[in-house]
Amino acid sequence: MSKQDFKRKIACIGAGYVGGPTMAIIANKCPEYKVTVVDIAQPRIDAWNSNNLPIFEPGLEERVLAARGKNLFFSTDVDSAISEADIIFVSVNTPTKTFGQGAGKAADLQFIEKTARKIKEVSKSDKIVVEKSTVPVRAADTLDQILHSGEGGPHFEILSNPEFLAEGSAISDMENPDRILIGSKETEKGLEAREELCKVYAHWVPRERLITTNLWSSELSKLVSNAFLAQRISSINSIAAICEVTEASVSEVSNAVGRDSRIGRKFLNAGVGFGGSCFRKDILNLVYLCEFHGLEEVAEYWRQVVAINDFQMSRFVKRITKAMFNTLVDKKIALFGFAFKPDTGDTRDAPALQITLGLLQERAKLCITDPHALPNAKLDLKGCEGTVDFEEDPYRAIEGAHAIALVTEWSCYKDLDFKRIYDLMEKPAFIFDGRNLLDHKALFEIGFNVYPLGKPDLKHF
Ligand code: NAD
Ligand code: UDX
Repeated sequence: MSKQDFKRKIACIGAGYVGGPTMAIIANKCPEYKVTVVDIAQPRIDAWNSNNLPIFEPGLEERVLAARGKNLFFSTDVDSAISEADIIFVSVNTPTKTFGQGAGKAADLQFIEKTARKIKEVSKSDKIVVEKSTVPVRAADTLDQILHSGEGGPHFEILSNPEFLAEGSAISDMENPDRILIGSKETEKGLEAREELCKVYAHWVPRERLITTNLWSSELSKLVSNAFLAQRISSINSIAAICEVTEASVSEVSNAVGRDSRIGRKFLNAGVGFGGSCFRKDILNLVYLCEFHGLEEVAEYWRQVVAINDFQMSRFVKRITKAMFNTLVDKKIALFGFAFKPDTGDTRDAPALQITLGLLQERAKLCITDPHALPNAKLDLKGCEGTVDFEEDPYRAIEGAHAIALVTEWSCYKDLDFKRIYDLMEKPAFIFDGRNLLDHKALFEIGFNVYPLGKPDLKHF
């Protein structure tokens, strides 16, 4: 298909963890659409155009290679992409504000606003502008006001289409989504734009999975979805703390509770706490929204989900310290996993970071191993040289270590030769399994002192 023959032109502003994969899927599923992903970060775009994609995500590379150069393009030419597009997805970052009013809670919308100004500056024709980024409720109002400021100019119809993919399973999440949510104004033009976006997804998503709402419900549903998921994790993690002092097993409790179909089994795995770029940020965003509207009790309710998460990480560090005779000074601890979850190299808000800093405060020496996250871990821990080492090979990471702290449940850690590992470690050897990944009984029989999460310890003294 020559470029002029494309039925529709889509631009996506922001070539990150969301923009890159979502557009790769749209390009694969809609060959008659031209999809151009743009970013101001030249190195990111260069990486998308290379054989070494900027993010690790199972299945992503083949989807990108199948469409790149045919109907999927990566570029830093933001103006041209906007100018020719019928539909513009805004997929820029919306991190927690670190300065001024709302610092530490509110979303920093500077990148959204800059994008809106750029769209207004460049556009000569009417466009549909889709909020793909996670934004506070009523952000579409702000976009609308910026895009339609001044006299005349083209018309922009704003849609909210939040992204629900989870990293590590992004491709299957997008190819087989539980739902696609599209919010629009309920005007004639709003409904037309909504249908235009529905048609894109209808290429592969059954119509009954497309949920349409007003703009504000759609924006709020994204924050609420993440808050509910995180709340389940904090709930089970709070129970893990009770299990550890009562000899109940959190896995057994989680199974017993989750088998009630009204509760469900998913997202009830106790661990060292949730991480990633979304949960903390989006809950805090919700907290700020509640505070802004004077809903202090509601704000406090959601604040506790984050508080329990922080408690869980510091509890893990305290448990390690207590088990290892109340001192970690100069003891080597091998940290297994640094990514915030398996199958990604992403370390944004990874529990491993807070746990590392907690262990360093106790003056432990760390060796971090991870199959994909070491480049990011090195950036996160800049300045800790001398007390933190990085080692790709887990067998080398544990040489002379007093303990292993498993923080990310990479499946490859299950298959390690723990007898060999035990022989290479200082004695007594400790394992703290922060994700309950390993066979604790077998480890105990090898000679390890084993500390599962939310379960009784297995120790030799
Ligand atoms: P990211 O930081 O990986 O990517 C954002 C990209 O936007 C960056 O490459 C940045 O250079 C680019 N950008 C910023 N300002 C720009 C501008 N003015 N013009 C062009 N490019 C610009 O972020 P992400 O993880 O992809 O998240 C994007 C949004 O999606 C956020 O709002 C996030 O909350 C939301 N979200 C993320 C996930 C996830 O799993 N990562 C899931 C659902 C929703
Ligand atoms: C999340 C949401 O799942 C996704 O819908 C949204 O679009 C973005 O935020 P993500 O952060 O990529 O996705 O991964 P997710 O699988 O939700 O895991 C988040 C964190 O929770 C990880 O640190 C994970 O280890 C932790 N987690 C998850 C648990 O501790 N226990 C669980 O049972 C599930």
